Amino acid sequence: MVNIAVFVGSVRRDRKGIRVARWIEKTLQERNHKVSFIDPMEIDLPILDRMYKEMDNPSQKIVELRNKIKDAEGYVSVTPEYNRSTSSALKNTLDYFLEEYYFKPSAIVSYSPGMFGGINAAQQLRLIFAELGAPTIPSSFAIPQVHKVFDANGNLIDESYNKRVGKFLDEFEWYMNALTNQRAIGTPY
Ligand SMILES: Cc1cc2nc3c(=O)[nH]c(=O)nc-3n(C[C@H](O)[C@H](O)[C@H](O)COP(=O)(O)O)c2cc1C
Repeated sequence: MVNIAVFVGSVRRDRKGIRVARWIEKTLQERNHKVSFIDPMEIDLPILDRMYKEMDNPSQKIVELRNKIKDAEGYVSVTPEYNRSTSSALKNTLDYFLEEYYFKPSAIVSYSPGMFGGINAAQQLRLIFAELGAPTIPSSFAIPQVHKVFDANGNLIDESYNKRVGKFLDEFEWYMNALTNQRAIGTPY
């Protein structure tokens, strides 16, 4: 069992991404992981002013967010693609913290209504996670035509995704285990 933080990337009122994020959460829980679900819409996260480490009196919700990120052993971000990049909402959430991410792996799930499944967003997000010290695993998981994969209630329509995501999460678990073991020995800083 591993403690994993799942980031929701969209705060649009009509967001499709919440379906994807809840499915990822459920799938991880079925694999016996503890999931911390991070939804910037639910916590009404403001546009960044001060980073967590610069705050004198962080609010309870920021402290709780920080603990979820600090205690996680790996990160899954569920990103939409806006103008060939990831969302400002996801970037904003990530930007609040830095050291909390160090030496832990991240994995990217992207989606779009078109045929490419948000791969441009995923590629750009890799650079962001590299900078945060939470390198992304080699595979990413793209969901094209997301409206055909989940119904309006968030139920998975296309069952083939359960098999596909299994391979992706096997790889993610391998990296989480590898880096957790290595962090126990020590980190360079
Ligand atoms: C501002 C904006 C920019 C978009 N740009 C892209 C894009 O570059 N590539 C793409 O495939 N879809 C693009 N779309 C369509 C989104 O992929 C689609 O609306 C998707 O449902 C967004 O995820 P969400 O519903 O979880 O917010 C864009 C949508 C918005 C609102």
